[in-house]
Amino acid sequence: MNIKEFARRRRQIMRMMGPGGIAVLPAAPVKLRNRDVEYGYRQDSDFYYLTGFAEPEAVAVLVPGRKQAEYILFCRERNPERETWDGVRAGPDGAVADFGADDAFPISDMDEILPGLIEQSDRIYHTLGVHPDFDQQVLGWVRQLRSQSLKGMHTPHEFVALDHLLHDMRLYKSRAEVAAMRRAARIAANGHRRAMRACRPGMKEFEVEAELIHEFRRHGTDISYAPIVGGGRNACTLHYTSNDAELQAGELLLIDAGCEYDYYASDITRTFPVGGKFSKEQRLIYDIVLEAQLAAIEQVRVGNHWNDPHDAAVRVITKGLKKLGILKGTPAQLIRDGKYREFFMHRTGHWLGMDVHDVGDYKVGDEWRVLEPGMVLTVEPGIYIAGGRKNIARKWWDIGVRIEDDVLVTAKGPDVLSRDVPKTAAEIEALMAA
Ligand code: GLY
Ligand code: MN
Ligand code: MN
Repeated sequence: MNIKEFARRRRQIMRMMGPGGIAVLPAAPVKLRNRDVEYGYRQDSDFYYLTGFAEPEAVAVLVPGRKQAEYILFCRERNPERETWDGVRAGPDGAVADFGADDAFPISDMDEILPGLIEQSDRIYHTLGVHPDFDQQVLGWVRQLRSQSLKGMHTPHEFVALDHLLHDMRLYKSRAEVAAMRRAARIAANGHRRAMRACRPGMKEFEVEAELIHEFRRHGTDISYAPIVGGGRNACTLHYTSNDAELQAGELLLIDAGCEYDYYASDITRTFPVGGKFSKEQRLIYDIVLEAQLAAIEQVRVGNHWNDPHDAAVRVITKGLKKLGILKGTPAQLIRDGKYREFFMHRTGHWLGMDVHDVGDYKVGDEWRVLEPGMVLTVEPGIYIAGGRKNIARKWWDIGVRIEDDVLVTAKGPDVLSRDVPKTAAEIEALMAA
């Protein structure tokens, strides 16, 4: 993403903060996986959103209206020896030259410099509770100032949660963000198609997972969350990730997998028959979920509220399950009693962006949020009938179906970013037969 995009975001958040405010954001800490092996480093989304700076051990400071420098970045110093091991660091000079910082200092000097900046401010914008070690550091700087109040030191009188402002900004995707999300969706879509083509009875779930990951990595992307590749009954375990069972002919395979391109996630689910052909019962359930998903996408319109797609999906699923005799009663009563939850136990979607379950409020006060252009959400209804339930005819057992797409709200209607993966039963069967 162009560095101008990050500068624009900083200007916008600083306008909202106003003079007298100071924002402090830490980079994500490095995490150990086992002994001295680290997890792959992923920058904190809020930090990256405002800086475009991907290194650990950094702190960004925004002081709107400060003459000498409004944007100050503390980061690791250059270190030829360490760089031989871990790769190049920007260093303070690089932070200014390449990342748009007005001023930059070694992170080791932060304790000396930052209290002086805080001292000149009335309000500290900081999100407490995300990085507890950093919270302690911030409180330490404030305590230090307070202890010197007799010497005339001034202490800010307000802590403000930065995420209220920042997460509302992140909810509305810019043109550049939509482009990144479109690409993330396209690459993930290719992965899903590749998995459909490769799937055969007798394969292990992880072999199909490998097809997806191959496609993600060959485009330089990574997974945006642990893929769910679940055949048969495993499709009914919502957060199944062991992905190590053998796939049987006659089963459905549910794949929920997305990639992260330039810090933006895709999140796609498709369900298809391991052997390439839906059985009669699988097809009946599949078509209800598909109808529910299309009805929900139809509701992704400017002016509708957050819950309209969910309500539409619930109506279709309840009516469909009643028609098959799986639910009994009138649809209106079944919906009032929430009976569909036995088979559709999650929500129809979530915001999508830098985080898979992206930031942004779903309600404003007591009211569901109204959809506006630039918001991106997933639409992912499902029906899950785990086997072994005596009150349900055996023919329905172990059918688990979810269909999930990534949808951009536009003035012209829903724009399905992940449209490149086949979705009707006929399209899926045709691809698998090719
Ligand atoms: N893959 C996580 C979700 O669908 O919400
Ligand atoms: Mn999702
Ligand atoms: Mn998903």
